[in-house]
Amino acid sequence: MIPVSDSQLRVLILGAGGHAQVVADILLRMRDAGAAITPIGYLDDNISLAGHTFLDLPILGRIDEASNIDHDAAIVAIGHNTTRKRIYAALMAQNERLVVARHPRAIVAPDVLIGPGTVICAGVVVNPGSAIGANVILNTGCTIDHHNTIGDHAHIAPGVHLGGDVHIGSGTLVGIGATVIPQRSVGAWSAIGAGSVVTKNMADGVMAAGNPARVIRAIQEAGSR
Ligand SMILES: CC(C)(COP(=O)(O)OP(=O)(O)OC[C@H]1O[C@@H](n2cnc3c(N)ncnc32)[C@H](O)[C@@H]1OP(=O)(O)O)[C@@H](O)C(=O)NCCC(=O)NCCS
Repeated sequence: MIPVSDSQLRVLILGAGGHAQVVADILLRMRDAGAAITPIGYLDDNISLAGHTFLDLPILGRIDEASNIDHDAAIVAIGHNTTRKRIYAALMAQNERLVVARHPRAIVAPDVLIGPGTVICAGVVVNPGSAIGANVILNTGCTIDHHNTIGDHAHIAPGVHLGGDVHIGSGTLVGIGATVIPQRSVGAWSAIGAGSVVTKNMADGVMAAGNPARVIRAIQEAGSR
């Protein structure tokens, strides 16, 4: 266990999988860089994880046990957008404080708006005039150019590049290494395939892939990403 001083926010990490361990690492790097924040452990419903530690942080219980554990704030660290949204909404209904996890080696312009619970990984660049929603993942090394808007619960995967004035809807996954050319939009709860190049606006609830990206199918199960 890592000692926690009185002045620090004790943060519970909801989830304990690979992405949660990335979030734990970010919170530890923030603490080491002087932020008043300390992760205290994970909650996860996978009972086979009981007794494990990851990055020296313990599994403290199931996700619905947050209110039984002394803490000051939380963050949802689950990659699946719908699940992350559901848990985020439950925490907000309980008046939980949601922290932003922002790696010290992310470059974010000073005027960028960032919603609660959002994760900004190492190597991310966000340029001026952009607004990032709540409970978003900006994954490793993605670049968000100027005047973008990223909706709540979206996931911008590793190595994605979004041009200027791009708009990504709530709950949408932009897959690893995809590119969206400037002044295009992707609707809500859509998915863009890994490595795709989006050259035209994409509607809500579509799965699109390729270069140029074309719609493969509608996503029936809205919010399934
Ligand atoms: C686009 C995606 C969501 C589709 O997943 P799926 O619903 O399981 O679709 P399938 O694998 O059945 O593929 C359907 C068709 O689209 C094609 N396709 C799938 N992904 C593609 C991609 N990234 N680029 C080009 N074509 C793609 C498949 O080849 C297949 O074509 P076919 O019907 O001619 O055989 C998925 O392939 C993908 O790219 N996910 C991104 C994952 C990711 O980056 N996650 C972030 C982790 S940090």
